[in-house]
Amino acid sequence: PDRPAMQEAHQAFAVIAHRGASGHAPEQTWPALEQALDMGADYLELDVQVTADGELVAFHDDDMARTTGVEGAVSEFTLAELQALDAGRWFNEAFPERAETAYEGARILSLDEIFARYGDSVRYYLETKSPHLNPGLEEALVERLEAHGLAEPERVLIQSFDRQSLLRVHELDAELPLIQLLWYSPEEEGAEALVEWSGVTPAPEEIRDTDFQAIADYAIGVGTNLTYDDGREVIDGDFVRQAQANDLLVHIYTINDGETMARLVDWGVDGLFTNFPDRLGELVPAE
Ligand code: G3P
Ligand code: CA
Repeated sequence: PDRPAMQEAHQAFAVIAHRGASGHAPEQTWPALEQALDMGADYLELDVQVTADGELVAFHDDDMARTTGVEGAVSEFTLAELQALDAGRWFNEAFPERAETAYEGARILSLDEIFARYGDSVRYYLETKSPHLNPGLEEALVERLEAHGLAEPERVLIQSFDRQSLLRVHELDAELPLIQLLWYSPEEEGAEALVEWSGVTPAPEEIRDTDFQAIADYAIGVGTNLTYDDGREVIDGDFVRQAQANDLLVHIYTINDGETMARLVDWGVDGLFTNFPDRLGELVPAE
């Protein structure tokens, strides 16, 4: 695979619509995806999971309850059962100031229908979510991308916290560019405990070039959190520069306020995941 070409294809500052424009509409439903595109997002960020009948859906949580009111994992339901659920009403209840009648009854979407609707008119930033709960996810994802003619290095980024999952995707199709997700938590003791699943980097302040190089062996970039749950910042501009000096793109999640967006743009990050692509679009000049 031509790594420099892959990286160049994704080099422009990336406005990544996190679960669609999920600050404005119920995440990973048509209204959120439509609004993200209307707002000029470069990438639709989607969490991919496998249903009981082997279909792929865009859904984030390990349990359905938060956004559908029904308990259970995606893998326990067929696509038809999932699509009979209301994945929009919760948003109106949680965010009455942004509620829209049209959001009620919004459906969980299959990847097939998303790909069929948007084709190559947008880029997809697809996460292999909770691979331990979704056996066969990588195979099914690569197969669906290929079936829709979207398994192109400039069209998609495949992201995961799980390094093994990324390596599996790479084995299946070495042309697909990968992003290693990282999660830094100051609460956990010990350098190696700071990264969930990926197991490849120590704490940001202790990270060495060789750690970044180990990621650059298979991925073109990293996606990392800026803040811990309590708002403490866990990385700084030096972390970003060091990753970039090791030939990795740096995308940061999930940034929703304009002031922080501007500061990170100033750090020179390569892109941001946001629930409000309109706010980020205002800061980043169109190419
Ligand atoms: O994929 C980047 C970011 O979305 C990771 O966090 O939990 O929103 O999938 P999460
Ligand atoms: Ca995600």
